[in-house]
Amino acid sequence: MEDLTPDPAILDPIETAPLAEIRSLQLDRLKWSLEHAYRNSPFYRDHFDGARVTPADLETLEDLARFPFTVKDHLRRTYPFGMMAVPKSELRRIHASSGTTGKATVVGYTAHDLDVWADVVARSIRASGGRRGDTVHVAYGYGLFTGGLGAHAGAERLGCTVIPVSGGMTERQVTLLVDFQPDLIMVTPSYMLAILDEFERQGIDPSSTSLKAGIFGAEPWTDAMRREIESAFDMHAVDIYGLSEVMGPGVANECVESKDGLHVWEDHFYPEIVDPATGEVLADGEEGELVFTTLTKEALPVIRYRTGDLTRLMPGTARSMRRMAKVVGRKDDMMIIRGVNVFPSQIEELLLEIEGLSPHYYIELTRPDRLDEMTIHVERSGAGDADAGSELARRVKDRIGITASVAVADHGSIERSSGKARRIVDRR
Ligand code: DLL
Repeated sequence: MEDLTPDPAILDPIETAPLAEIRSLQLDRLKWSLEHAYRNSPFYRDHFDGARVTPADLETLEDLARFPFTVKDHLRRTYPFGMMAVPKSELRRIHASSGTTGKATVVGYTAHDLDVWADVVARSIRASGGRRGDTVHVAYGYGLFTGGLGAHAGAERLGCTVIPVSGGMTERQVTLLVDFQPDLIMVTPSYMLAILDEFERQGIDPSSTSLKAGIFGAEPWTDAMRREIESAFDMHAVDIYGLSEVMGPGVANECVESKDGLHVWEDHFYPEIVDPATGEVLADGEEGELVFTTLTKEALPVIRYRTGDLTRLMPGTARSMRRMAKVVGRKDDMMIIRGVNVFPSQIEELLLEIEGLSPHYYIELTRPDRLDEMTIHVERSGAGDADAGSELARRVKDRIGITASVAVADHGSIERSSGKARRIVDRR
């Protein structure tokens, strides 16, 4: 794989600024953001009043802990535009995420918000090894989902040529990857695997493409999956994180030279980790729920938004800003099997260690007689033998401590998604 480490001279100065400078910028921006939310969003005025705080109560970054959390339900209750802090006429774009239950969550952007968003995605692509003049194949979905248009604007901002393919039509994805010779691809990791299958089906060697790096996110994926993708395509696989309520893709991104967690672009998004049960702020290094406060967003400022994502914060390495570890999973995706907590990502790590199993899988939960049972459905890979399933069951028992059944399915029998993969099928 090519060394894609960016020349420090092309980074934004704030990426490598001393921490004191970053903290001071954050404090100024945080004061602005609280004030803006309180003055201009009727929701936040009530929300702060209800918690008996005003923006004047914040003197240090730590004082943020005195402010109430924002949760997804607040967005649902104020559907569609009740949380916006600018008049509707100032919105230049609206996105929405469908979610699994209830109404869509609607988010809005001013012209300035779109500008900041393009900047942070451009920064993310650069951190992933992209440069001005590169060609970027965008296979995140376009439309209300933030992935496609978010990636698109960032790639243009960096000075790249964009191929706006969107998700789906896998055969055509392969044709375009072969014919247009892109340097980078931006897509969900699970859809990249579907594209990989299609390369194999067409008898084209995936390692022969022009791709130097892939920028994968929108769903949890493991280091084991990274190795799988990197070796198949002979390219770097880098993690991008974000969520629509906070902005979209580009809230945090790994650096291609270190691949040791995602640097949070802290000049725009202030992270905290809290205990998911009590809401108490945890120290850096401890695992808990990621919470974000936007520092510069105009249309939809969010103060202490609970993402539901579980991770931990670590000090900066390739950049000054803190890193978040790869997301373990969403709070809601935690399965409790006979008292043991387990996430799909833990199963993914184990199944990718086994030669005869492919990375296509889902987990089915049932409750036949009052006790929860887990069945891991996974496809065999080329040389897959009958023992691969029992080997997985054994490792799940040894390393996670739960008894799971493993159903090894034929190649191609597990549904492929062109966006976020569904890892849990709950039949309880
Ligand atoms: O998925 C934004 C995005 C698009 C991020 C493209 C990266 C690439 P939502 O649809 O609002 O936005 O979903 C946000 O997806 O809270 C996480 O649970 C999950 N997620 C996003 N990126 C990652 C990642 C987009 N890199 C929700 N690792 C978030 C793990 C991720 N989970």
